[in-house]
Amino acid sequence: MGYKINRMTDKIKEAALILKRSKFTTAYTGAGISVESGIPPFRGDGGLWGKYDPAVLDIRYFLADPAGSWVVIKDIFYDFFSAAKPNKAHLTLARMEQEGMLGRIITQNIDNLHQEAGSRMVFEFHGNSKNLRCTHCRRTYIAGEISLDHFPPTCRECGGILKPDFVFFGEAIPQLPLTAAYEAASISDVFLIIGTTGEVMPANQIPVMAKEYGATIIEVNPQPSNYTQNITDIFLQGKATEIMEKLAVHLFSPSLDDNQDGIN
Ligand code: APR
Repeated sequence: MGYKINRMTDKIKEAALILKRSKFTTAYTGAGISVESGIPPFRGDGGLWGKYDPAVLDIRYFLADPAGSWVVIKDIFYDFFSAAKPNKAHLTLARMEQEGMLGRIITQNIDNLHQEAGSRMVFEFHGNSKNLRCTHCRRTYIAGEISLDHFPPTCRECGGILKPDFVFFGEAIPQLPLTAAYEAASISDVFLIIGTTGEVMPANQIPVMAKEYGATIIEVNPQPSNYTQNITDIFLQGKATEIMEKLAVHLFSPSLDDNQDGIN
């Protein structure tokens, strides 16, 4: 697309027009979309990795010291996450899906907030924290049904150590979200990136692939990311709830006429 649009209102309108005209849009989300739901990001100001050593989420570290890892895992993922509720950004994406404006969500998040907002076509690249899986017999449990008073929690059937069912560093990405993400990159004419630094591999390659297939990249973030100067066509600088709320005004109102050429 190549040209840059300056005034935020014009950018919002232009982005809304592109989203309305899109045949297939994918939203690609990171920790930033859930910050206003009370879940800290991993990096940047107030980021979790400033307080905790990310090594606790390395699968070799976990298997070597499951009890030690679980102390931190509970602190991060089960105390913060349990109180979190979907915010206006999650809800706007859910409404876009309902109104046929959003075909798929590829998320790096493990907080289940897209599903709780009502989105259905959600593919979790890094798994989900709502379930625990036995590292021995692979049986899964709903996290809320397992006591986290003693570490590590163990499988009721085989006594194996239970692990949160999300992807640790050093683990492979589950096949279903991987396939769904590659497919989304090849079929989407718009990628809406919300709240990610774009630092973590291999997830961060998905929007780059979409760009290579010709997608228009719309990005929402209060800070520039690794994408902003590289692949982003329209950068909507701001918090996810504020920007998505502004977009929603245009997306869901008939006034934004599809025949309108660009901005008045
Ligand atoms: N609205 C939108 N974006 C925000 C907001 C907000 N209110 N607040 C912060 N952000 C942005 C930050 O500017 C940053 O670009 O969200 C991003 C958060 O970046 P990270 O913490 O690096 O999160 P993410 O990119 O999702 O991390 C990827 O890293 O640790 C692993 O597995 C973990 O899935 C995670 C992956």
